Amino acid sequence: MPEPADRIQEGVHFRRGERPPPCWRLVLLGVAPGVAPQEARAAIGAVLRMLRALRRGEVRELARQPEAGRAATRDMFAGLAVLVASGRSLFDPALHDPPLTRRERPDFLAYLAGDAAFPAVPWAEGRSPGEADVALQFTGATAAAVNRAAVEVWKLIGEAGLPLEVAHSFDGFGRPDGRGWLEFHDGVANLESGPRLAALAAPADPRWMAGGTYLAFLRLRVDLGAWRSLDRGDQELVVGRDKLTGDPLVAVRRDPHGRARPVAGPPARDPPETTDPLLEVSHVHRANQNRASPDAPAGLRMYRQGYDFLESVGPDGPVLGLNFVSFQADLQTLQHVMHLPDWLGDVNFGGPAVPRAGDPPSPRLMRLLAGGLYAVPPRARPFPGAGLFAAG
Ligand code: HEM
Repeated sequence: MPEPADRIQEGVHFRRGERPPPCWRLVLLGVAPGVAPQEARAAIGAVLRMLRALRRGEVRELARQPEAGRAATRDMFAGLAVLVASGRSLFDPALHDPPLTRRERPDFLAYLAGDAAFPAVPWAEGRSPGEADVALQFTGATAAAVNRAAVEVWKLIGEAGLPLEVAHSFDGFGRPDGRGWLEFHDGVANLESGPRLAALAAPADPRWMAGGTYLAFLRLRVDLGAWRSLDRGDQELVVGRDKLTGDPLVAVRRDPHGRARPVAGPPARDPPETTDPLLEVSHVHRANQNRASPDAPAGLRMYRQGYDFLESVGPDGPVLGLNFVSFQADLQTLQHVMHLPDWLGDVNFGGPAVPRAGDPPSPRLMRLLAGGLYAVPPRARPFPGAGLFAAG
């Protein structure tokens, strides 16, 4: 069956046969205070034109390089995808006078404010800003491509005197074995390609977002020490899958000491529905509670395109985690998943909120290092979201 046409930007690798490329970088840009909307639009346009030129093998600093050099540059940036998104602050008249846009702000495009961004996921020490006027997401085949693209943005801003600043940047990588830091398969139950577009494409509310999507970015530090203190059976109960095969758990048995032990089912992508109270509170069931009718809006489905990160390894152990990156038709979806009890509102990752004797514990696994919510306008010329900056 042909896939329905869509207006989702490049960089959301959801289409049939696509796989997210292994390298990821997010670059957050601030628009200087007092800048007129037309100037901001021209500056962002210039950045995006420069990035497109990279794919043609054109680098400003190496203008007129010999053809072989140009071909090498072209090879290097082949497959680089650039997604442009607008943050809550772009719509904030307290930060931008004159306002950068007069377009209506989507209801759930909000700051991740407060002492705890979410009820069960606290901020980590050393948190960084994750919110900005504009976010550029780079995905590509090599670290060189996504990293160099980020630095070319910084160079252009300086050289051309653009009224922008690079506020922050984050990196991430995918694993060719399909596993994440917990050493479980990750992404095995990501959305089927059919329902993906329905879960992704934003409605025309506000109108300028019709056919676009929303990006949630949560850079979650993962406490690998806490995770590794659980034995394999407890880890599987907390995730809801077999560690080696990725197969969903179908039952829980008790050993002679009354300890809960996982029972994996036959190979299957989607965990079957369950009434077992321990399986119901595992991560995969908390994060997706509408398996019976996956297309229903109440399913709170999102398309996940996460990338692991490693910040450092030292005597105190590694600083690492997951850039949780999801795309969805409405940011309310993410807020529900993160706030509702029985979803991720009452435990930090998975497992029972109040473990009984023999149950697995509910590890305090993730803390938020940075995060931001963004609107990803539909594809358009000269660039997605350019219409935001029109006067009136
Ligand atoms: C903001 C926090 C998170 C949310 C909202 C979230 C959401 C989800 C969702 C929707 C699923 C698919 C469930 C299904 O349909 O079966 C899932 C599965 C999974 N998640 Fe998370 N997750 C979060 C954080 C994490 C973190 C920090 C890790 C690991 C470091 C992680 C590891 C996994 C694993 C291993 C699976 C099972 C594989 C799979 O079914 O895709 N998640 N998560």
